[in-house]
Amino acid sequence: MPKNKSGANKSGAPAINIGIGSKDRAEIAGGLSKLLADTYTLYLTTHNFHWNVTGPMFNTLHDMFMEQYTELWNAVDPIAERIRSLGHYAPGSYADFGRLATIADAPTEPPKALDMVRVLVEGHEAVARTAREIFPLADEAGDEPTADLLTQRLTVHEQTAWMLRSLLEE
Ligand SMILES: [Fe+2]
Repeated sequence: MPKNKSGANKSGAPAINIGIGSKDRAEIAGGLSKLLADTYTLYLTTHNFHWNVTGPMFNTLHDMFMEQYTELWNAVDPIAERIRSLGHYAPGSYADFGRLATIADAPTEPPKALDMVRVLVEGHEAVARTAREIFPLADEAGDEPTADLLTQRLTVHEQTAWMLRSLLEE
């Protein structure tokens, strides 16, 4: 961003000075952008499965997927706003999410009910790995708000993966 002599941006806003260097802020924001893309993609897949699930477990899975997509939908906002607090723009288009996400888009043909559960177990575990990868960056930079956000996301993704996995175990 262009700066004048006082370190302020062209707009007149002072340069960000929160005690985390610009390189660290950029790296953490980059990691959080991947986490945002993964979370959004998993949100959409879960909502898709809420619409398209069939079979004898319809009621259970339809309701369970609704709880899960609602949680994921609520999670994207704090992740995006943390990226903004670190001085970077949050990605917010399907093109950006497709480029950044580490998980695949929802399947075009709706899978059978238990295959949906399998896709979601793997999705939650993949998002947990994305969140865990950012943790050392946030920790070393003294970025407690990001570390706190990551801890919360890890708790949810690992618990949800366990609950979904339990549906597949005898
Ligand atoms: Fe619905």
